[in-house]
Amino acid sequence: MRLFFALWPDEPAAEKLAALAAELAVLAGGRPVPRQKIHLTLAFLGDVEESALATAMRAPDALEATPFEVVLDQVGSFRGARVAWAGCAEPSPALAGLQAGLAQRLHALGFALDDRPYAAHVTLARKVRRAVGRRPAEPIAWRATELALVRSELGKGSYTTLAGWKLGWLGPGPSPRLRRPG
Ligand code: 2AM
Repeated sequence: MRLFFALWPDEPAAEKLAALAAELAVLAGGRPVPRQKIHLTLAFLGDVEESALATAMRAPDALEATPFEVVLDQVGSFRGARVAWAGCAEPSPALAGLQAGLAQRLHALGFALDDRPYAAHVTLARKVRRAVGRRPAEPIAWRATELALVRSELGKGSYTTLAGWKLGWLGPGPSPRLRRPG
């Protein structure tokens, strides 16, 4: 199963991001990401055995994080992945800290993560034909309150949230979960 940890925007931010996705798709000649699929990935675990899910669920334990503001204030594209995105010029210490803490936990639990430095971005258009020069954009912000563990099913093109952790609850010891894998 293909798993990743992510932050989902709230409704107002998702709406603004969907509008920006439509603009970027036209600009770059690609397909906009549908509103309900727009998210910010913190860690991509890749294809893992079903048995690894229980281990992945332990990653947020002992992570200390409180709700924080995610501010996306630039747009750009990744040529190799052929995606256009909205991202953070400078990730906030809260976002960088949550991502680094999660990556550290996942490494300790035996997951192999991308070695490349983390680039906080929300993919808004795929299969783009033209590059989008990195540039400042009207900031789009939301308050991140929940960390989600999500399953991606490539065949179905769907994302399923398997579990969620309230950021205010994260701290030493096992964290209460909002949802459990069904
Ligand atoms: P993307 O949106 O830039 O493609 C599920 O695929 C999520 O994990 C997406 O947010 C995707 O980022 C992210 N991701 C990170 N590294 C990935 C990789 N090597 N392959 C596929 N998805 C990856």
